Amino acid sequence: MLVIGIESSCDETGVALVQNVGSAVPRLLSHALHSQIEMHQAYGGVVPELASRDHIRRVLPLARQVLQDSGRSLAEVDVVAYTRGPGLAGALLVGAGAACALGAALGKPVLGVHHLEGHLLSPFLSTDPPEFPFVALLVSGGHTQLMRVDGVGQYELLGETIDDAAGEAFDKSAKLLGLGYPGGPQLARLAEFGDPAAFELPRPLLHSGNLDFSFAGLKTAVWTQVRKLGSNVCEQDRAHLAASTQAAIVEVLLKKSLKALKQTGLKRLVVAGGVGANRSLRSQLDEACRRRGVRVHYPELALCTDNGAMIALAGAMRLQAGRAQARCDYAFDVKPRWDLASV
Ligand code: KG4
Ligand code: ZN
Repeated sequence: MLVIGIESSCDETGVALVQNVGSAVPRLLSHALHSQIEMHQAYGGVVPELASRDHIRRVLPLARQVLQDSGRSLAEVDVVAYTRGPGLAGALLVGAGAACALGAALGKPVLGVHHLEGHLLSPFLSTDPPEFPFVALLVSGGHTQLMRVDGVGQYELLGETIDDAAGEAFDKSAKLLGLGYPGGPQLARLAEFGDPAAFELPRPLLHSGNLDFSFAGLKTAVWTQVRKLGSNVCEQDRAHLAASTQAAIVEVLLKKSLKALKQTGLKRLVVAGGVGANRSLRSQLDEACRRRGVRVHYPELALCTDNGAMIALAGAMRLQAGRAQARCDYAFDVKPRWDLASV
């Protein structure tokens, strides 16, 4: 079975083609991506209307490209999967509209996919795929969650952020440090030249006793330090503050993940979402998990941030597990807010 997947929830247009063969993990045949980062950079963040318009321009050329790269034709596609939510409403509508139009034209069913389920399952496309059950740390621009995952569609929320997401903490702190958008990778780069212990920053909810997160206070603490440093702050101090900010975020993510592993008794951790690309987070998780006999799985670096492959994969795995039915009514809707545990 061939599944084409379309991602358009935020600032990346992604299309991919995967093939389901029996009960094996679906195989990625090809994927194509267009990032809008350059377009939004001038505004310091994502402009929703511009994002939607750009998705419209990109989605069909990218679909053509994945078909061409895989040597498959549109007529061979069996199911059209698309990101139904969560995300920007207008951006989601572009992908949903394109998917349903494609499905209707081909007479093939369509399937709306949860964006975070895509992230969560994306490590199955890596060279070191996980096995169920596992603890998942989902860290993206809009979400920070710890989940217990027993199988496709079997997700139990263990804890989540009560305010800002980890990616948001990276992005907002980066902005305070005068870095561009998206802030996470830029802050991480600057942090390489700084001392993570140079500034004392809070580790919110670190000892809360539960698995929830809070990052809004950290952003305020960074703001206070930026103000103290003043307008002619030197490059070294900016690097120290970037390193200290990253250290605070990473420590909280690390400790809570270890707590979730201990609480569930599971020996497998999956890290997914854009912040999962962070090198400091990866190395600290690797080291701590190695000492505890826990296996850690990540998506390939290229599939950490938003992409079409994870949407095609999640659609294919859901169909394979009998946990979703593709529809032929083409009456699409989108869910800008959508709880993964409810899927
Ligand atoms: O999963 P994603 O691509 O989009 C959402 O679904 O939100 O995640 C984007 C987030 C942004 O906040 C970005 O700054 C962050 O992931 N990010 C990083 C890194 N690469 C991306 N944060 C820290 N270090 C990185 N290397
Ligand atoms: Zn995402």
